[in-house]
Amino acid sequence: MFKHQTKYFTTPIFYVNDAPHIGHAYTEVAADVLARWHRAAGVDTRFLTGTDEHGQKILRTAEANGASPKEWVDRLVAQEWRPMLENLNIANDDFIRTTDARHEAGVAKFLQRLYDKGYIYEGEFEALYCVGCEEFKPKSEIVQGAAEFTGHKVCAIHSKPLELLQEKNYFFKMSAFQDRLLELYERRPDFIQPAPARNEVIAFVQQDLTDLSISRNTFNWGVPIPWDESHVTYVWFDALLNYITALEYSTSVVGDEPGSVALAKYWPAVHIVGKDILRFHAVIWPAMLMAAELAEPECVFAHGWLLVGGEKMSKSKLTGIAPHEITGTFGVDAVRYYFMRAINFGQDGSFSWEDIAARYQAELANGFGNLVSRVLAMNAKYFDAKQPESGDLTGADKQISELAARVTSLANEHITKYAIHEAIAVVWQLVDALNGYITEQEPWQLAKDEAQRVRLATVLATATEGLRVLAQLLAPVIPEAAAKLWRSLGAVAVLGELSEQNIAAAGQWHKLPAGTPQEALPALFPRVELAAGVKK
Ligand code: ME8
Ligand code: MG
Repeated sequence: MFKHQTKYFTTPIFYVNDAPHIGHAYTEVAADVLARWHRAAGVDTRFLTGTDEHGQKILRTAEANGASPKEWVDRLVAQEWRPMLENLNIANDDFIRTTDARHEAGVAKFLQRLYDKGYIYEGEFEALYCVGCEEFKPKSEIVQGAAEFTGHKVCAIHSKPLELLQEKNYFFKMSAFQDRLLELYERRPDFIQPAPARNEVIAFVQQDLTDLSISRNTFNWGVPIPWDESHVTYVWFDALLNYITALEYSTSVVGDEPGSVALAKYWPAVHIVGKDILRFHAVIWPAMLMAAELAEPECVFAHGWLLVGGEKMSKSKLTGIAPHEITGTFGVDAVRYYFMRAINFGQDGSFSWEDIAARYQAELANGFGNLVSRVLAMNAKYFDAKQPESGDLTGADKQISELAARVTSLANEHITKYAIHEAIAVVWQLVDALNGYITEQEPWQLAKDEAQRVRLATVLATATEGLRVLAQLLAPVIPEAAAKLWRSLGAVAVLGELSEQNIAAAGQWHKLPAGTPQEALPALFPRVELAAGVKK
C-alpha cells in the first residue's frame, strides 16, 4: 500500500511580509496530516516547512515599518509564524529560513554549479514586474487597472500596478529544458496533481518557455551572486532551493550529487503548494534540478484556494482571517478536521463561520464526541470502567469489525493518493455505523436483563474496539482528541503510545484485552458559543 520507504513532504516557504492567515494554516495542516499519516504507517518521513525572507516585497514592508529587513523577518518569524505552527499542532521535522547560513551557502553553491555548466548568461532585460507575486508577469496575467489604478497595467492576481524594470540581469537558460519538461509530464502522469493542474502546466510549457531572469542589482536584500556580488539572487530562485538546502545540500560534494546523507535519503520530495504557485514548482523548479543533474520532485500537488466571500483569501487584499481566531473558538482539532473534511483536497473551498460551526456540532460534537461519551459512560456504569469481555459475535458485531478492516484499508489507500477528504469520509462511515449499531443494539435495554449480560458485554466490547480503531485512524487529523481517547481506553498500558501504532493495521480486531481499565473522559468537543462579535 505504502510503496516508499522514505517520504519527504514540504509546504511552500511563506513570505514573512505579514502575519499568517488561514490560507497558510490550510497548507500546513494538509501537509502535516499527510506526514503524520505516513509516519504512522511506518514510512521514514520528513516534513519541512519554513519562511521566505528575501526580495523586494519584504524589503519594502520592513522599510515602511521603520525596521531593517533582518529585524523585520526575525520579529515576524518569532512572533507570528513559529507560533502559528505550534498553535496548529504541526509536527514538522525542520523549519528553514532563507536567511539561514545553510540555505545561503546552498544557493551560492547551486548557482556556481549552473554557471560552471554554462546554464547562466548575462543579458539586458525590460519587463513588467509584480512585487506582490515577485515575478515578471507573462502577458496573459497583465490586465487593465480599475478604480484608483485606471490607466495602469495591473497584475491579474494582486490588482496592483506593475513596475517596468530595465536592468542588466543574469539569466537561467530555462528554454533549453522545454522538451525535457514535456517529456517528464508525459512519462510521469502523477508528477503534477491533480489532473487539471497538470493540464494547465502542459499547456503553458507547450506554448513557449523563455529564459528566466535570476538576479537583481537595484537592491541588496538577497543572496549575493557568487561571481558578481553587485547582484542578488532572484527571490524565487533562492526560495525554491530551500527544499534541498534543508537536506544539507551545501555540504554535499559538487560533481558527486546528491552527496549529502540527508539528500540521498529523503530527496525527491512531495511538494504541497497552493495553485497560485504551481508554475514555479512544476516548471522552473524541475528545470533548475535538471540543470544541476539532481532528481526532479516526486510530485507537485497543487491544492485549491480558501475563498472568503467568493475571493481568494489574501494578505494583500485584507480578506485574511488569522488562524487563532478560529482555533480560539473551535479548538485546534476542530479546525484541522474542518479544513481537511469540508474541502476536497485539490479544489477550492469557501470558508464560513456558519459552515465550520455546523460541522463542529453535527460531526464532531454529536457524531464522534457523543459516541465516545456514550460508550465510555456505559462501560463505567455496567462494567466498572473496564473493557468488557466479548462473547460470540453475531452478524451485527461482525459487520462492525469487517467495516473497521475495510475502512482502514480504504482510508490508507486514499492517503497514498493524497485524497485526504476521501480518507476522512471513509473513516466517518465507521463513526456513523457505530452510532447506528448502538441505537439498534440498545445496550441500556440489555442491561435491564441479567440473562443478557454476555450480550451486553459483547456489544460494548465491539463498540469500544471500534473507538480504538477510530483513535488510530483519526490521530493524524485530530491528534489531541485521538490521544485523549487512546488514554481513556487504557490503550497506552496494553498497546503502547498512540504514536507507535501502525495505522495500516488499525482495523485488526480484539486488540484491547478484556479487563483493561478505562478512564473517564470530559467531552472531546464541548458545546461552542460563537462570540457575539463573530461574523456569521
Ligand atoms: O508564494 N487558500 O508565499 P506566500 C489556500 N514565498 N492556500 C493559501 C491561500 C488561500 N487563500 N493563501 C495563501 C509564496 N495560501 C512564496 C512561496 S515556495 C518555494 C515560495 C498558501 O506567503 C498556499 O500554500 O504568498 C499558497 O501557495 C501559499 O500560501 C503562498 O504563500
Ligand atoms: Mg502570495
